[in-house]
Amino acid sequence: MRYDFDNPPDRRNTLCNKWDRVADLFGNPDALPMWVADTDFPCPEPVMEALRARLEHPIFGYHYPPDSLYEAVVDRMWEHHGWRIRPEWVVLGPGVISDLRSALGAVSRPGDEIVLQPPVYYPFAAAVGDEGRRVVENPLLLEDGRYRMDFPGLESLFEVVTSFPARDPRISAVVLCSPHNPVGRVWERGELGRLGQICLRQNAVLISDEIHCDLVVGDGAHVPAASISAELARNTITLMSANKTYNTPGLKTSFAIIPDEDIRRRFGFAGRARGGVNCLGLAALEAAMRDPDDYLEQLLEYLRGNIRVFREGIADLDGVKLVEPEGTYLLWLDMRGLGLDDHALARFVVNEIGIAPDYGYVFGTGGGGFQRINVGCPRSMVVEAVSRLRGALRAR
Ligand SMILES: Cc1ncc(COP(=O)(O)O)c(C=O)c1O
Repeated sequence: MRYDFDNPPDRRNTLCNKWDRVADLFGNPDALPMWVADTDFPCPEPVMEALRARLEHPIFGYHYPPDSLYEAVVDRMWEHHGWRIRPEWVVLGPGVISDLRSALGAVSRPGDEIVLQPPVYYPFAAAVGDEGRRVVENPLLLEDGRYRMDFPGLESLFEVVTSFPARDPRISAVVLCSPHNPVGRVWERGELGRLGQICLRQNAVLISDEIHCDLVVGDGAHVPAASISAELARNTITLMSANKTYNTPGLKTSFAIIPDEDIRRRFGFAGRARGGVNCLGLAALEAAMRDPDDYLEQLLEYLRGNIRVFREGIADLDGVKLVEPEGTYLLWLDMRGLGLDDHALARFVVNEIGIAPDYGYVFGTGGGGFQRINVGCPRSMVVEAVSRLRGALRAR
């Protein structure tokens, strides 16, 4: 089936966070909604068919995941990422952030330190705090327009902690965002291997949020960190869902892949309070994993077109620079050249330009002066955003 991403259904008045809360939250009802990380595209027709079929049965009681769903995930990992997993490694959940909390519960104790690499998806820090753990930061480095991980910086965090006599507090986990929201990196095998080795050496579990794994818009390929070696697999919790790619986050279904039996058991205990599975989400996830009509291919082609329009549209502007995205549909726009502080920049972007973005500073250290702009939207909106940006900068 050919999808028409240029003409999606109108989302206004559907209780949609991204569209219906712009006026309340940004104060400018005309600002283009380019913030929340969902797309404006309908989910694939096979997902709709699976949901319709499930809705035909009028009872929505308690459910368990069918074997066929585990098989779909196993096949998907092999076909898309060359990663051989076993069905028993897959644990269904109600959302990736919820699963992150279960992962923290499984591999750390209250008071432990957890490494984040900001600027990064801000609910990570909230999840760490909500679980009674503490964030330690190993900020990403921006060099020649590309972000990289600071490996010596990471090693030194462990040295600081372990030099204290009782090794308490201890760093028990490193949370990776791969591909990285918001800076758009698709980490290379070598980088992931190095990170994984540090975690192994330092006895810290790697929690790898790979929710954006399908959304590679550059030349690279997504490598699941746990696929690099059996040793690394045993020390990694991988978090995934179909929600970013197939636009189903409201169905509240995710999955973790946990090869180590003991960690898996503890993850199960930690997640018990978060409830069971959503029967509609199960149906949608299985259909999405099978992606029988090439939705993903078409989506990627469309997103690359949107990124091209944005990149070319701002190339000659002073004061703004696009960090070239390798993955996700979230652009990371460097506006530090405008010389505005974060609050002035937010006002400028929302009121003068007319875009509702995610403000860079909310992503933590290193996010100030940037804006995250979601181009998982019709091309016409990207064209309009570029035109507004150009107009506002000219008028400045
Ligand atoms: C990196 C990352 N992890 C997790 C989530 C949220 O996942 P969920 O809605 O399944 O909790 C998002 C959504 O933007 C994300 O970008």
